Amino acid sequence: MTPYSLAYTLHVLPALIWVGGMFFAWMILRPAAVSELDAPARLKLWPEVFRRFFQWVWVAVVLLPVSGIGLLHLRFAGFETAPAYVHAMMGLYLVMLALFLRVQLLQLPQLRRAVEVRDWTAGGATLGRIRRLVGFNLLIGLALVAIAAARPVL
Ligand code: HEM
Repeated sequence: MTPYSLAYTLHVLPALIWVGGMFFAWMILRPAAVSELDAPARLKLWPEVFRRFFQWVWVAVVLLPVSGIGLLHLRFAGFETAPAYVHAMMGLYLVMLALFLRVQLLQLPQLRRAVEVRDWTAGGATLGRIRRLVGFNLLIGLALVAIAAARPVL
């Protein structure tokens, strides 16, 4: 394995896990939970789902810029000479990171508190806000992968 293919693998796998995990949560688990579980059971399910998924997102959040900067130096000899789609990737990464941190540090503790005191109304409102942010992050992640895949072959 060359340094480039190692960095590439350590870049694409976390992207796959982060974006694929959001796709599964939003498109599959969320509608299944709505159709099969009542509100209290759903509100207890999601903090546990996020706790497990976000451990992997933290790994992705660290590995993506480290491997991405490695790729950038191996392939383009630095930031200045990197093509526009790589700059777009870095910018969109920062947006995805900010949205993830908002859910992890602000909204998830709110959801946990609401579940602890069995305030299903507040919990439902917080879960709705989390759903919107994760949906937005999913769209950015999908767009980012599409931009990466449609890059000109240099
Ligand atoms: C600081 C953050 C990031 C940097 C510096 C970065 C940098 C790079 C670089 C230099 C490449 C190689 C491009 C090429 O060989 O033409 C690449 C490829 C790629 N990146 Fe990123 N990236 C970052 C974040 C992300 C994120 C957040 C995602 C998706 C969630 C992502 C998804 C991809 C994918 C799927 C490829 C493979 C493209 C392909 O070869 O088809 N990157 N990235």
